[in-house]
Amino acid sequence: MTDIQRTIDETLPFAEALAREAGALALSYVNTTEVRFKSETDLLTDGDEAVEALIAKAIRERYPDHRLYAEEGAVGADESDWRWLIDPIDGTTNFAHGLPTWAVSICLEYQGTPVVGAVYNPPRDELFLGAQGRGATLNGEPIRVSTIDTLRRALVISELPQGDLAVNEMIGRWNETLKRVQSIRVLGSAALDVCEVACGRIDGYWQRPIMNYDIGAGVVIAREAGATVSAYDGGPYILDNKELCCTNGLIHKDVLELIAITHPAPTETKGSE
Ligand code: 2AM
Ligand code: CA
Repeated sequence: MTDIQRTIDETLPFAEALAREAGALALSYVNTTEVRFKSETDLLTDGDEAVEALIAKAIRERYPDHRLYAEEGAVGADESDWRWLIDPIDGTTNFAHGLPTWAVSICLEYQGTPVVGAVYNPPRDELFLGAQGRGATLNGEPIRVSTIDTLRRALVISELPQGDLAVNEMIGRWNETLKRVQSIRVLGSAALDVCEVACGRIDGYWQRPIMNYDIGAGVVIAREAGATVSAYDGGPYILDNKELCCTNGLIHKDVLELIAITHPAPTETKGSE
């Protein structure tokens, strides 16, 4: 076994236990958490901060040589092939409103590839795990993408853009999408969106912009469950490029064609949607 696979195998149970511990802490903040605003529509709660502090402390103690990139700003070592991507609460808006669709997301990346992922949804006690070469599970049971092979039978997720909504553009996109798919869902947690594809409840998901700490863990889980992941143009998915298309594979080509119709100009500045 290579040293890389050894580290992957060793960090998987660590990430699992940490996601559970962090999730329990997050759950204790539901309905009592204080909400502040990073911008008019971008929320931050004391739950996010407390959970990130717990996760960052545990990683720094156990893996002091690893880098760390977290939504609320925690950092680790300066240089390493290994980097942890942490979203303490993905789906903060849901969390702040008491809706159950949010998750702790913990990802370990090696040289740009996400290799270990733990996504834990405490309200439903659902823990998704994945490690490169080791498969993907939901609460310990192996998971697999769906077998839906036509777009018209596919239930898909395409989240709303953040911030000021370009309403007409959005309506146009959804109009084109609804003509071709079974229906659209907007759940509000990118980490869980990707896991829903991994376990076959959803057939395809795409979003831009989306951060590496939102979806890194989900991407490992989805890949190990048989999903196809790519950039919007069908090229390789790149962790830091803020865009992801993730499907069961069977509908991937059709989804990419749909994205080409709904996102015609690749000149858009990343992060501006
Ligand atoms: P968050 O809850 O951790 O903020 C909702 O559409 C999804 O998009 C959530 O996973 C949310 O993560 C994420 N999100 C929120 N703000 C974002 C931004 N400015 N850019 C990209 N993704 C964002
Ligand atoms: Ca978050």
